[in-house]
Amino acid sequence: GKTLIVTGAASGIGAATAALAQRLGAHVLSVDIQRPAEVVGTFFQADLSDQASIDRLVAALPAGAHGLANIAGLPPTRPAEAVLKVNLVGLKYLTTQLVPKLADGAAIVNLASLAGLGWPEAQAQIHASATLDFDGVPAFCQAHGIEGARSYFFSKEALIVWTLQNRWTWRDRGIRMNAVSPGPVDTPILKDFIETLGARAEEDMKTMDRPGTPADIAPVVAFLLSDGSAWIRGTNVPTDGGMYANVLCQMH
Ligand code: NAI
Repeated sequence: GKTLIVTGAASGIGAATAALAQRLGAHVLSVDIQRPAEVVGTFFQADLSDQASIDRLVAALPAGAHGLANIAGLPPTRPAEAVLKVNLVGLKYLTTQLVPKLADGAAIVNLASLAGLGWPEAQAQIHASATLDFDGVPAFCQAHGIEGARSYFFSKEALIVWTLQNRWTWRDRGIRMNAVSPGPVDTPILKDFIETLGARAEEDMKTMDRPGTPADIAPVVAFLLSDGSAWIRGTNVPTDGGMYANVLCQMH
């Protein structure tokens, strides 16, 4: 079986992905800041908002993993700087530090969001964040008006663009990267989105038959980590019960 690293494995979509990967025969390396109630595979504790903690994690993880699922994330109700660190700066740092230890042909999957699909309108901000590091986050938020829920949206916009931009970065080693963008999924943070977006979230939800569940997202991540998706590279896959199409069709 393959060895797969899953961040955010203690809850929601990450926990479902870790469990599915194990059922499919993978050896799972579960990463989270909190210990999962039921550990899948081997657990590594790390704070993905902290550079030194990520350095320790990268040193502790075994070499030769075949996949990395970047699923850990903070919701829009949390402090803007923490959201930007976990959802974007920490994710990018972990990935670039880990690539030299991954197996040739490895697949990377980033959990973005339907909240990131407005990226074409944010390209100046996204461009400015290209070299953003942990220490630079407070000044960046100040300079670009990244506060409140905007931090969440921005983190996902920039993550989608980063995924697309790095379609060929590790080409010589056959390493590829894709993103998955869920619509509203019933996990502990669904209430955070409804709290932040208010009436708009409720209107959007009404266009759907039901919210998603972690079991709707985990198989998509597993597919993008598998050899069957070898020719899928640098894409973002909305997985949303039709919500994005609803929004697009209402515009036409
Ligand atoms: P969740 O809150 O159930 O799970 C997130 C996990 O990330 C938790 O186990 C948490 O401990 C971990 N985490 C948070 N900060 C961390 C840190 N500093 N270091 C290490 N681990 C940390 O949330 P859910 O819904 O499973 O979210 C997973 C991903 O899916 C997130 O990136 C989220 O933005 C994204 N997403 C979720 C949607 C939803 O409606 N639930 C919709 C679209 C995207």
